[in-house]
Amino acid sequence: MITVSGLRKSFGGHAVLDGVDLTVPRGTVHALLGPNGAGKTTMVHILTTLLAPDAGRVEIGGHDLRRDPGAIRALIGVTGQFSAVDVWLTGRENLRLVADLRHLAQRSAIVGDLLTRFDLTGAADRPVHTYSGGMRRRLDLAMTLVGDPKLIFLDEPTTGLDPRSRRTMWEIVRGLVADGVTIFLTTQYLDEADQLADRISLLDHGVIVASGTAAELKDSVGADSTLDDVFFALTGGLR
Ligand SMILES: Nc1ncnc2c1ncn2[C@@H]1O[C@H](COP(=O)(O)OP(=O)(O)OP(=O)(O)O)[C@@H](O)[C@H]1O
Ligand SMILES: [Mg+2]
Repeated sequence: MITVSGLRKSFGGHAVLDGVDLTVPRGTVHALLGPNGAGKTTMVHILTTLLAPDAGRVEIGGHDLRRDPGAIRALIGVTGQFSAVDVWLTGRENLRLVADLRHLAQRSAIVGDLLTRFDLTGAADRPVHTYSGGMRRRLDLAMTLVGDPKLIFLDEPTTGLDPRSRRTMWEIVRGLVADGVTIFLTTQYLDEADQLADRISLLDHGVIVASGTAAELKDSVGADSTLDDVFFALTGGLR
């Protein structure tokens, strides 16, 4: 679903992505891990056509990122690191807005279904500024699913959520994968990558310093290692 090779991006002479290669098969979950400032959001912005790379090749769903960004946009859904909801609209109005932008048929039914799936029916007609953080995050993800994208990017989908809300989000992600959706997520939570991802890539100093299944990464660092050990062994820590 995603093939990236030799991807480079610099900001003001600082190479944030310095030759990144990665492949994500259809119907799998790929987790991109890395310390603050490693370039995870930059990577998501490039793969979702929001930011142009300096060099490298990206193919998504068989479409070349430079030649056919429109075809890629039609295929994907994105939940950014920071919420994209309009807090002065209600939950229902936010969802309706996305359905309108995507020119979907049967918009009211689609919106009603997503409100139910994300347990937001009771709050649907309240402005979002009255929602809790977890409710906003669920609405964010619901907005991403309008139009049934086949590939979803989630940039730190559970940051700031309580343990129960994180598990709810994980269940939603697993349900999507069971339906054949491909997921590319970034996370600061190693247990989240461990729980959800088929494959994990660790980004540090502009390159992928390790990639594989959670078990492979742990084995590479030593017997009885945790993903925390992998993270600390292979990255320069926080910056
Ligand atoms: N538009 C920009 N202009 C200049 N520098 C930028 C820009 N966007 C990102 N950067 C820099 O690129 C680096 C990577 O940022 P990015 O947001 O991709 O990191 P991240 O891995 O998502 O971090 P976090 O875990 O904190 O979300 C940082 O040093 C950041 O300051
Ligand atoms: Mg980020």
